[in-house]
Amino acid sequence: MTLPEGVRERRVRTGGIELCVAELGEPGRPTVVLVHGYPDSKEVWSEVASRLVDRHGFHVVLYDVRGHGRSGVPRPLRGGFTLEKLTDDFLAVVDAVSPDRPVHLVGHDWGSVQSWEFVTVERTRGRIASFTSMSGPSLDHFGHWINKRLTRPTPRRVGQLLGQGAKSWYVYLLHTPVLPELAWRGPLGKRWPGILRRIEKVPAGDYPTPSLASDAANGAWLYRDNVRPRLRRPRADAHAHAPVQLITPSGDRFLSERLYDELAHWVPRLTRRTIPAGHWIPRTRPDRLASWIDDFVTSVERDQERERERTREGGGEVAGEAWSDGVGGPARKAATGRYAERFGGQLVLVTGAGSGIGRATAFAFAEAGARVIAVDRDAESASRTAELSLLAGAPEAWAEAVDVSDEQAMETLAAKVHAEHGVVDVLVNNAGIGLSGSFFDTTPEDWRRVLDVNLWGVIHGCRLFGRQMAERGQGGHIVNTASAAAYQPSKALPAYSTSKAAVLMLSECLRAELADQDIGVTAICPGLVNTNITATASFVGVDAQEERRRQKRSTRVYGLRNYPPEKVADAVLRAVALDRAMVPVTPEARVSYALARFLPRALRALARVGPPL
Ligand SMILES: NC(=O)c1ccc[n+]([C@@H]2O[C@H](COP(=O)([O-])OP(=O)(O)OC[C@H]3O[C@@H](n4cnc5c(N)ncnc54)[C@H](O)[C@@H]3O)[C@@H](O)[C@H]2O)c1
Repeated sequence: MTLPEGVRERRVRTGGIELCVAELGEPGRPTVVLVHGYPDSKEVWSEVASRLVDRHGFHVVLYDVRGHGRSGVPRPLRGGFTLEKLTDDFLAVVDAVSPDRPVHLVGHDWGSVQSWEFVTVERTRGRIASFTSMSGPSLDHFGHWINKRLTRPTPRRVGQLLGQGAKSWYVYLLHTPVLPELAWRGPLGKRWPGILRRIEKVPAGDYPTPSLASDAANGAWLYRDNVRPRLRRPRADAHAHAPVQLITPSGDRFLSERLYDELAHWVPRLTRRTIPAGHWIPRTRPDRLASWIDDFVTSVERDQERERERTREGGGEVAGEAWSDGVGGPARKAATGRYAERFGGQLVLVTGAGSGIGRATAFAFAEAGARVIAVDRDAESASRTAELSLLAGAPEAWAEAVDVSDEQAMETLAAKVHAEHGVVDVLVNNAGIGLSGSFFDTTPEDWRRVLDVNLWGVIHGCRLFGRQMAERGQGGHIVNTASAAAYQPSKALPAYSTSKAAVLMLSECLRAELADQDIGVTAICPGLVNTNITATASFVGVDAQEERRRQKRSTRVYGLRNYPPEKVADAVLRAVALDRAMVPVTPEARVSYALARFLPRALRALARVGPPL
């Protein structure tokens, strides 16, 4: 394993030793500093570094942590690896490679543990633009996490403590004197490449570096100098002063995902991502990591540019339709929703978000800490949803006024979202209109209107945003709001029901097509939900006065039924989390679904009566 061609190396002096620092790419570009873990050297980043330079055009800096690779070894070892000294090293590297511009920090394993120190101590404020953390928690946050579970135990918390305790067996071993050194210089050192290949699926190659045995022996002092003192006395003020992206491998055998449950408390702007992989993701998932780092760094750079513009203009409102709170606005709520772990930091786009089910869905994702794009043809209500999403816990929210049936407008929206915010993780094609009336009263124009919004709107969304998801290659989820009308025929709703049946079938077909690409597709089929749809639905074949009377009547019936859109929103998040194909929501929708499957004749009889809408 070697660094890519074109690497420039230099030595940086710090605290009586020299660090070996490598640079790639144009120094004028945003600088990404990659910090390696234990027992690695900077070469663990070789695959990620080359992608960050070649594909994404960054200036990339890597260094061997003291005692590792070709950096100097502090003497004596004991006390030579404290977090204070590691912070001195980081600042010396940053002074050398990017003296005038804050850097984007990325850490894996112990590289992440020490980077948490860098991003939470005062003396680095202004030097770090963002931090991407992988498989390495802050020791202070970890200390508080343990204390909370010891002082306020519940069966769940005790289970979490025991779970992480079992995963930390190697930390106890590394605290024993001499033994780890002997093991690494002897059998463990020899077997390590094979172990990584077998258990972690790290590709074969010239990994690890020839200095593995001494890196691992010296690096044991990272643990001995820091773990016990910090876990015993965690700092109370360990808040991050830069936005953080947390990448959690779901198959990490050394760290429990639960460790990060309370992270939003420490990080004002947190983006969470989960990856189905083991611990050594810099080696096993370089493509995905490089593009996530790119997405995050680019969005932070853009926000900072906006902030600078705002300051230049004298601190006015954010231009256009964007609603962004910067870091930690006073009225903001931290994401606490039930699904915060699953959706925190994800980019979610909801159409028809100005009212009813769409607005409730935007809020539910906001409560889970997702970044929300609220799309509606009504600009004002979309903006209101974005504004309220920020208050509900979304780290960022934007509004876009777009008619989903307008192909061109949707193409422009997809390009804009991609350029400004990246690829959408969850797409909710929800915009829809109601239309009631017999088949012969429904004109071709009525058909076009309802199909254009209810079906074509969904097709445009799936085609444009779904393609971006597929091309990114990191999975995602599409939710299409169909209806119980999709499987429940009715003499009163031929056009509406046809549009929804098409959405249901489209969802099923697309689900089959995208399954191999980790993109889930869900059709949500609500029954009667108390929203504005009844007041805005068209009733064809009657005069305007009768139409208004029917709108009022169905609004009354739906009001009496009183099923809240928030419950549908909850079903949406649950369906995405569990990757459900089709979800009937409301008891009547579930009953008619059962009838459609087992007693279709009964459903046909009901079709002759027709629903209230
Ligand atoms: N309310 C129900 O009982 C019910 C039942 C089953 C399915 N649905 C479906 O749920 C979805 C949401 O409906 P709701 O009940 O929340 O209705 P709603 O009227 O409260 O909200 C719909 C939103 O979509 C927006 N919209 C309409 N046409 C649009 C377009 N062309 N482009 C962009 N935005 C557009 C509207 O401005 C509105 O803000 C619809 O697809 C509807 O068919 C509703």
